Amino acid sequence: MTDATPVSESREGAVAVLTLQSPPVNALGSALREGIRAAIERAEADPAVKAIVLIGGGRMFSAGADITEFGKPQSGIGLPDLLNRIEAVGKPVVAAIHGNALGGGLETALACHYRVAVPSAKVGLPEVKLGILPGAGGTQRLPRIVGPRKALEVIVGGAPIGAKQAAAMGLIDDLAPEESLRAHAVAFAERVAAEGRPLTKIRDREDRIAEGRDDPGLFDAFRTENARRMRGFEAPEACIACIEAACRLPFEQGLAFEREQFLTLVSGEQSAAQRYVFFAERQTAKIPDVPETTPARPVAKVGIIGAGTMGGGIAMNFLNAGLPVTIVETKREALDRGLGTIRTNYENTARKGRLRPEDVETRMGLLTDTLDLDALKDCDLIIEAVFEDMAIKQEIFSKLDRIAKPGAILASNTSYLDIDAIAAATGRPGDVIGLHFFSPANVMRLLEVVRGARTSQDVIATAMQVGRRIGKIAVLVGVCHGFVGNRMLAQRQREANRLILEGVKPWDVDRVIHDFGLPMGPFAMSDLAGLDIGWSRETNRSETVRDLLCEQDRRGQKTGAGFYDYDAKRNATPSPVTEEIIATVAARQGVAQKPASDQEILERCLYPMVNEDAKILEEGKAIRASDIDIVWINGYGWPVYRGGPMFWADGIGLRRVLERLRAYEALYGDAFKPSPLLERLAADGKGFKDL
Ligand code: CAA
Repeated sequence: MTDATPVSESREGAVAVLTLQSPPVNALGSALREGIRAAIERAEADPAVKAIVLIGGGRMFSAGADITEFGKPQSGIGLPDLLNRIEAVGKPVVAAIHGNALGGGLETALACHYRVAVPSAKVGLPEVKLGILPGAGGTQRLPRIVGPRKALEVIVGGAPIGAKQAAAMGLIDDLAPEESLRAHAVAFAERVAAEGRPLTKIRDREDRIAEGRDDPGLFDAFRTENARRMRGFEAPEACIACIEAACRLPFEQGLAFEREQFLTLVSGEQSAAQRYVFFAERQTAKIPDVPETTPARPVAKVGIIGAGTMGGGIAMNFLNAGLPVTIVETKREALDRGLGTIRTNYENTARKGRLRPEDVETRMGLLTDTLDLDALKDCDLIIEAVFEDMAIKQEIFSKLDRIAKPGAILASNTSYLDIDAIAAATGRPGDVIGLHFFSPANVMRLLEVVRGARTSQDVIATAMQVGRRIGKIAVLVGVCHGFVGNRMLAQRQREANRLILEGVKPWDVDRVIHDFGLPMGPFAMSDLAGLDIGWSRETNRSETVRDLLCEQDRRGQKTGAGFYDYDAKRNATPSPVTEEIIATVAARQGVAQKPASDQEILERCLYPMVNEDAKILEEGKAIRASDIDIVWINGYGWPVYRGGPMFWADGIGLRRVLERLRAYEALYGDAFKPSPLLERLAADGKGFKDL
């Protein structure tokens, strides 16, 4: 056994077992690649070795190429060459997979002659999520083993699949018991060596790709079916083209085509953005004054106050994670309606085949409904999700202070209000925190964890951990109006409203934002959310475009009209009524009419957001610029291939952003006044990335 290299070598009879030892994920960096090459060559040259097993040490087989090496000069053997080398070994090479075999990790396994895995293992080619493609033969080998249709799903979808499913596809040759992968793989290797089976190289297989030759239309059909989710991204099309090439070209030419496409993508802006996001997501867990060793409080039972859309959605997260939830309402009808919605959501998911029918009952079985707040007395975490009214929230928190057991975490789902003022209604402000979910709360991945001035460290640690447990990306933010996400959104909304009063059509604003890559523009979004949020006939002042739209019962999609007119299928068309209303308000307010180019629309909507981000950072309301990017990507659909507003602004150059902000400030005043941080960074020729 030699431990000096990242590959340890040992012998089981005539089988050489090569164990990858590059924690935490066996990323295939240059040292590991060289280690594998040397170990493979030694085993090949040793006449006593009849077969080779390649297995991962630690948590997994391999998470693929070392992403930190992209964009840097390559040292040592490249992964594609290493894999060709493995495939060419004249003795059976068996990959033994546990944990994950992802990206280059799976490609390595595909270059082996056989693959054995434990049922809990996951395999996949997630490169598309990093804006690249499987560039070590994955696009050429996978279709040769599972056929082009499945290869499209795996490579363009990017989601890992379980070993059992992979075995059913022919991707895994044998499933091993969970606890004895190594022994099972060694026995498998001995058997194939003893039987003298010819070495099966995936590159030589032609049978499965015939499907792509016989039915070349399948690629276009896939493009059409997936157009929406691929919109704006470059990598998916390159993946499809490579799989097409696998069916059309001889293997070596296909590999060359794949390489060319890979190199284009890996040096492009989208991949740089998507790789940045990969690491940014992982950064969010790191909180300077709350070390990872901070002990978290146990959370085994959750209470939720409010069974409306938010409360119900929040409850589903915990039920999905197997945690019992007690949900409280003030009226029986509201409670029944809330429970009904949760059940319907689950049943719809089951109908689509994404949930087993028995799981619907298991999850509903974890839910207790009550009209009695006292029922929350043994909950470890209580989340208040009632409407946005400080007095009501304070009343609830003062009651909770009396009811909740010592050490329970008291959280508010407020999206704007001051957590410190809410905490002040209790005698235990250290236990109070904001947990801001995004609607629909059971779907959106973002969770803003709002720390109050007195929130204790272990409460923060617990909240971040709970976030991960329910599958969210938790980002820690500070108390300010709208926290990070909505505070930025308010900037965009203000400018969008000003633009339409100047005569730009709402649909033109929406088009520009949509073309930029967001799922919808501000007006389509308002229509979806409902224009009457926070509006009431009694307090209506008939001042804004929204007031007048609501007066006419144009309250958004739900009433068939808002900024747009909607047909029965909720298809939107521009509305002359809206145009008239806007003209009326503009005339009343004496707003000068002026056209705006698409570039101006974009700048006026997005640059104030970037400026606000700088203020958020200055005020310490977010820990780092990349956290803000993660908020906007996961809470508001900012296109991941643009890396978030801060990353995007860095790409433009802060000097340029500053120059444009100043130009708009001259025209529109303080709303565009550059933040001192932005000014300083621009003056130093720096970006947010340098902070
Ligand atoms: N390269 C470099 N670092 C990686 C890495 C990779 N491929 N995968 C994970 N890491 C790092 C993470 O950044 C993290 O670092 P810190 O502790 O410093 O934050 C650490 O390893 C542990 O990772 P996670 O926190 O993500 O661990 P997890 O257990 O939650 O998840 C995982 C494990 C599912 C494997 C996840 O890490 C993951 O999805 N990794 C990336 C997989 C991937 O995209 N592979 C394709 C790479 S590109 C490629 O292979 C191209 C090619 O074709 C040649």
